[in-house]
Amino acid sequence: MSIENLINKVGIRALHCLDPETSHNATIKMLASGLAPTFGQIEDKALEYKWGDLTFKNPVGMAAGFDKNAEAIAPLMKLGFGHVEVGTVTPLPQEGNPKPRNFRLSADRAVINRYGFNNDGHDVVYERIRKAGRTPGVLGINVGANKLSEDRVADYVLGVKRFAELADYLTANISSPNTPGLRDLQEKDALGHLLTAIMEARNEQEDRLGRKVPVMLKIAPDVADEALKEIAEVVLTSNVDGMIVSNTTIARPATLKDQQQAKEAGGLSGAPLFERATIALAKTRRAVGPDLPLFGVGGVDTPEKAAAKIFAGANQIQLYSGMVYEGQTLVKKINHHLSRLVAARKVANLQELVGIDNDIWADKSLEN
Ligand SMILES: Cc1cc2nc3c(=O)[nH]c(=O)nc-3n(C[C@H](O)[C@H](O)[C@H](O)COP(=O)(O)O)c2cc1C
Repeated sequence: MSIENLINKVGIRALHCLDPETSHNATIKMLASGLAPTFGQIEDKALEYKWGDLTFKNPVGMAAGFDKNAEAIAPLMKLGFGHVEVGTVTPLPQEGNPKPRNFRLSADRAVINRYGFNNDGHDVVYERIRKAGRTPGVLGINVGANKLSEDRVADYVLGVKRFAELADYLTANISSPNTPGLRDLQEKDALGHLLTAIMEARNEQEDRLGRKVPVMLKIAPDVADEALKEIAEVVLTSNVDGMIVSNTTIARPATLKDQQQAKEAGGLSGAPLFERATIALAKTRRAVGPDLPLFGVGGVDTPEKAAAKIFAGANQIQLYSGMVYEGQTLVKKINHHLSRLVAARKVANLQELVGIDNDIWADKSLEN
């Protein structure tokens, strides 16, 4: 075993001795203080993805929820992520749900969380990002609504207005299962209303900023085929710039080994989410066509699963739970694998492989 893999393994062991929330907070603190070891990255032009003015230097992103408060953006990029999505940030600071609210299902390589958007709020997160200055990769800022907000649409609009100047792209997260009623925004009419307001707010910022900040919509994997088609339709008519598929699931597959922990309320992520999220991604790709940027998220914990997401239709992938079980070397392993894949398939850029297995995934059923 290489020194790198050994340090990585020891790090995971140590962190798993702590309860999941303490372990997560310690990881953020370690990263923010520059104490976390880093192992270098894979540089390969064939992994680059150009989206408007943005260049993603590789296709692996840190999913939202890991760095909710934007404390470790540059250190995460140093680990090899091509992009980092911070948040979800809400207008007002929030405590989130009572503890415990984060659970490891180690036998399943899964996580259940019901944090409920605990975050420092717009003001503090805005200042933190502004002070940190430009980062060496692409920065996504994920915005949401306060639990007790009387006008959730207004909360998203505030998020867009506040963070447009700092973000390379923005994400409207309407798919957390831990804010009661939030996922109702995925319903056709509500979604149309929300996206019209968000895109208007984004367009208003254009004169001031001299650029149109791309807006992504992040959806749940718990939507039936018809609903998914409706979401795709609304996204296209609203001129939203891309989609992130998907958030955590409220489903509990019967195959979960840790049936005790599986009873915890919240969103399930990690390995058991892979199949469901990848099917939802492929169906979304089929519905929106080849050109809309899609980020595939859910259950990526090996290089092969990262490749499968891209073959199913993702331009970029993101991960969170995979880091919990595999540590930071996962990022480098994925990029290394993808780099070799591009060479083996004799294509000029990874993007040429996007969607090559779309039919296989999109033909599967989401219903079970
Ligand atoms: C502990 C935890 C907290 C999360 N918080 C957020 C969040 O605040 N906003 C969001 O959009 N997604 C959040 N997510 C969802 C992830 O971004 C991702 O969509 C999901 O976990 C599936 O990816 P994974 O299987 O690689 O973890 C969270 C996930 C976890 C595990």
